[in-house]
Amino acid sequence: MNDYQFIKEQDPELYATLVGEEEREQNGVELIPSENYVSRAVREANGSIFTNKYSEGYPGRRYYGGQEFTDMMETIAIERAKKLFKAKYANVQPLGGANANVAMYFALMEPGDTVLGMDLSHGGHLTHGHPTTAINKVFNFVRYKMKNVETGEIDYDELRAVALREKPKIILAGFSAYSRELDYGKFAEIAKEVGAYTVADMAHIAGLIAGGVAKNPFDFGFDVITTTTHKTLRGPRGGMILVRENEDLAKKINKAVFPGMQGGPHMHIIAGKAVAFGEALTPAFKIYVEQILKNAKAMEGVFKKEGIRLLGGGTDNHLLLADVYGSLGVTGQEAETVLDEVGITLNKNMIADEPRSALDPSGIRFGTPAMTTRNMKEKEAIRLAEIMIETMKNKDNTAIKTVLREEVKNMCQTFPVPERFV
Ligand SMILES: Cc1ncc(COP(=O)(O)O)c(C=O)c1O
Repeated sequence: MNDYQFIKEQDPELYATLVGEEEREQNGVELIPSENYVSRAVREANGSIFTNKYSEGYPGRRYYGGQEFTDMMETIAIERAKKLFKAKYANVQPLGGANANVAMYFALMEPGDTVLGMDLSHGGHLTHGHPTTAINKVFNFVRYKMKNVETGEIDYDELRAVALREKPKIILAGFSAYSRELDYGKFAEIAKEVGAYTVADMAHIAGLIAGGVAKNPFDFGFDVITTTTHKTLRGPRGGMILVRENEDLAKKINKAVFPGMQGGPHMHIIAGKAVAFGEALTPAFKIYVEQILKNAKAMEGVFKKEGIRLLGGGTDNHLLLADVYGSLGVTGQEAETVLDEVGITLNKNMIADEPRSALDPSGIRFGTPAMTTRNMKEKEAIRLAEIMIETMKNKDNTAIKTVLREEVKNMCQTFPVPERFV
């Protein structure tokens, strides 16, 4: 159903881009592990009347009048978030995952203080202190790594040694390119020993935690969780900060978000978050996230059978990292480009201790949240993995790529992007 009638009449130039994106999303398979399709209900909330309203402050304590409905709406989002993640406090205002992390750093630390986070080439995120980011100029970031890149096991001995030496204020667990479960108990034990806060950036796996198929860091005593709301959690683009139980920390975080770093919250997006959290609380969501894992395992099986090296030796979550340069002689950039040609979207990615450049690394990162939203199951996951490998092995063969492109398109027509999840 076309839902852009007003734009179509008023602004044909812009309308063409919306139609193009609709077609692109329908006709290609999305394997970028940080992307997903939201429900029509979430999109309605995002495009809703709440975009008109300024609501600086928090429910019951705003700097503008006319807040009876924004207060009700934001409270619904907060209460649902708390229930989903077993948190006592939730701030649903961060505009994105990066904002959530920056606010969290300023809430828990003073400039110059130290964060111990995952090495970026071993899976950590840019916002965990990449040299090019602003926060890297304010705080001191030190690193832990995997002990064995073939199993994904974190080097907890090194983590402890660095913590004892550097005395971090925050020990940060979390990643954007790591496929194994973390031992949150070990993080908490080491943090206790050195008097650090424990924070988990669960942007990638929030939906898996909410649906009960990944461990919840709060069950291991973590203090704070930051997250995005648009990846496995299947909500609108945005961020969120959760506090397990410490009221003082929750107050500091609220202040750090507003007025610390943001102005008026995007109330239409918070409405979208509320709708998505409502969806994530349903039994159907649990079935969805279980299938995400089954599909990722199915893809893992094909890559392993074909002898392609997977970082961490495989996956416990929604994503996989494959060393395609080491295994097939195809660079990450070449793989990304050639897979795009057959209608499969994913991203090139550095592998641990990358021998090549960030712009053309050895690896690809891909995952199953979006294809699972389309109701694709193990059978399709297996076939997609086979198509990926066939495409990479025949990257210069136009005839083979044309046939595979047709197959991917047919698969997409059989599994249209759904509009309702409940
Ligand atoms: C672990 C992690 N943290 C933070 C972010 C940043 O989120 P955003 O792009 O919404 O700012 C991401 C996004 O990829 C992420 O993977």
